[in-house]
Amino acid sequence: MRNLADLGAIIENEIEKLSYPQSPELLYSPIEYIMGLQGKRMRPILVLMAHQLFDENLDKAISPALAIEVFHNFTLLHDDIMDKAPLRRGNATVHEKWNDNVAILSGDTMMIQAYQLLSKVDDEKLRKVLDVFSKAATEVCEGQQWDMDFETQNNVEISEYMKMIEYKTAVLLAASLQLGGITGGASIQEQENLYEFGRNIGIAFQLKDDLLDAFGNPDTFGKQVGGDIMSNKKTYLYLKALEAASDKQKNELEKYFSISDASTEKVNAVKKIFIDLKIQSFIIDLMKEYQMRAMMHLDAIRSSNKEPLIAFSEKLMDRIS
Ligand code: IPE
Ligand code: IPE
Ligand code: MG
Ligand code: MG
Ligand code: MG
Repeated sequence: MRNLADLGAIIENEIEKLSYPQSPELLYSPIEYIMGLQGKRMRPILVLMAHQLFDENLDKAISPALAIEVFHNFTLLHDDIMDKAPLRRGNATVHEKWNDNVAILSGDTMMIQAYQLLSKVDDEKLRKVLDVFSKAATEVCEGQQWDMDFETQNNVEISEYMKMIEYKTAVLLAASLQLGGITGGASIQEQENLYEFGRNIGIAFQLKDDLLDAFGNPDTFGKQVGGDIMSNKKTYLYLKALEAASDKQKNELEKYFSISDASTEKVNAVKKIFIDLKIQSFIIDLMKEYQMRAMMHLDAIRSSNKEPLIAFSEKLMDRIS
């Protein structure tokens, strides 16, 4: 059984081996750039962790793991355009370093590469693998559209927000685990439990992402702190704050979120309301709830190799980047 560090090293080594043509330079160098920036590589690591629950030989899980990481990086290129984000993994975003068109087309190429990597899976498993992946990929787009819709939509319900983060983020973690299960030889029931484990840690993961977006340390977070507030994102922080706010605080929050304003003054004023209302503790409680639900699904799987998944999901809760 390999631990987090071993699996991370395997993935890093495999990513280094992905090579791209020299030309057109503006199509391929942004791909090398984003793939070379050190992400956490969570999703491919989850593919391998799920696979090794059933099979210690990881060979057959490598190409789907890479496919998922390439796909994830593609979504980051487009997401950063949509969110007007300047920073990613501590470096300039692709659309900032080059331009929007470059980020769009390099992203498109990465999505195609993801399918090319996936299609290396054995024939008898390929149809299922493609179905699981395509469903998740479509849902990511659906979640991303809701995320954008909500920027300008008032009266977003917490339940709508929960569905949005499930789609834009959690389903890809869920699919990563299911794919590792499939290549490792999991039964249908085991695949379902893996998917549900991933879906629940994925929701907790995005809740933490939203928390870090407002309260992360700029030196370690790697992204622009306050970006969600600048874009009027209807995060759990904001929606829960509206629920708990006094009339005065509610008016202030709604006023800030009805205008297009990316100033530090706005970010600080909104954060102050979040702090006064102790929103951080609500979000941490909710994350724990999802983490617990996730563990129930992992408990239902019989394998002597569950330890890395347990350790990984605990680590996710405390992450700072
Ligand atoms: C960022 O994902 C996008 C979200 C779904 C929040 P990660 O936090 O996994 O980003 P990297 O790959 O580690 O940079
Ligand atoms: C992005 O959510 C989810 C996808 C990339 C599909 P966010 O917009 O919150 O991700 P970050 O914070 O930019 O990484
Ligand atoms: Mg973003
Ligand atoms: Mg986004
Ligand atoms: Mg975010």
